Amino acid sequence: MRCINGAEKASLLVILVSCLLANQIILNFRALFNKLMSIAQNDFSQVKRVTSHTIQEMKQNGVKISMLTAYDFSMAKILDDAGIDVLLVGDSASNVMAGHETTLPITLDQMIYHATSVVRAVQRALVVVDLPFGSYQGNSKTALDSTFRIMKESGAHAVKVEGGKVVKESIERILSAGIPVMGHLGLTPQSIYKFGTYTVRATEDLEAQRLQDDAKLLESLGCFAIVLEKIPADLAAKVAKHVDIPIIGIGAGNGVDGQVLVMHDMLGINKEFKPRFLRRYRNLYDEIKGGVEEYINDVKSGDFPNSKEQY
Ligand code: KIV
Repeated sequence: MRCINGAEKASLLVILVSCLLANQIILNFRALFNKLMSIAQNDFSQVKRVTSHTIQEMKQNGVKISMLTAYDFSMAKILDDAGIDVLLVGDSASNVMAGHETTLPITLDQMIYHATSVVRAVQRALVVVDLPFGSYQGNSKTALDSTFRIMKESGAHAVKVEGGKVVKESIERILSAGIPVMGHLGLTPQSIYKFGTYTVRATEDLEAQRLQDDAKLLESLGCFAIVLEKIPADLAAKVAKHVDIPIIGIGAGNGVDGQVLVMHDMLGINKEFKPRFLRRYRNLYDEIKGGVEEYINDVKSGDFPNSKEQY
């Protein structure tokens, strides 16, 4: 038997390395092909990272967008693991986390704290953060500075602002810095003292027309999506049909491109808030209260901890 010489060894090595590289290229190609196929088949659950573009593709493919609010690490992790598409660090934190009556008191620092906790937990969802009251209206420079702080300090992916024409300049300035903006029309809680009540908005022709104009304006400015809150379902469906960007509804019926709810409301953590549009998926108030009552009883009776629960 003849021993192979140095040149032959080198050729064999080249062949081996080429085979390994070819194999790797085939594997990469197959992964890319599978990813493209799953998107083509509307299986957006396979998408590793949801971006503002992903949700626009979802609209184009007729796939509904799921969005919930989140304010802390532990809950954001559960919602992300469950496969939620968008997490909104809403200024509703002012109500459900801090106990204020309105969304007005929450500060930029507090929003950044909540956003930072959520971003740390999330692997897949798009994280959008509300610009709080007073941090963007009236002065586009302030709006941009507030947004820079949110994006730099929390690592979030986009911001949401309430209003249309009246905040045009602020939106333009934020967008010009390359930051995705989600709009919010209809019932805009930061204007509650102007509205006076939390009743359904845009039931009159004039306000309905203004809302449609604002939606068109937000689209033309370059917003990537719009939340429509508490308006008639027919009007919301009309807006969703006439703009190309996703319309995400809350109390705006089923003719839109996705839905958002406040997490505490849909999980039944608070009992008092019962608008018609809300569907409660769990009754966590009673679940948690029951668990805590059992714990108190066990502590008082001396049942907890038992011998297996000690060192
Ligand atoms: O702050 C919030 O939770 C919101 C949703 C109601 C859309 O803006």
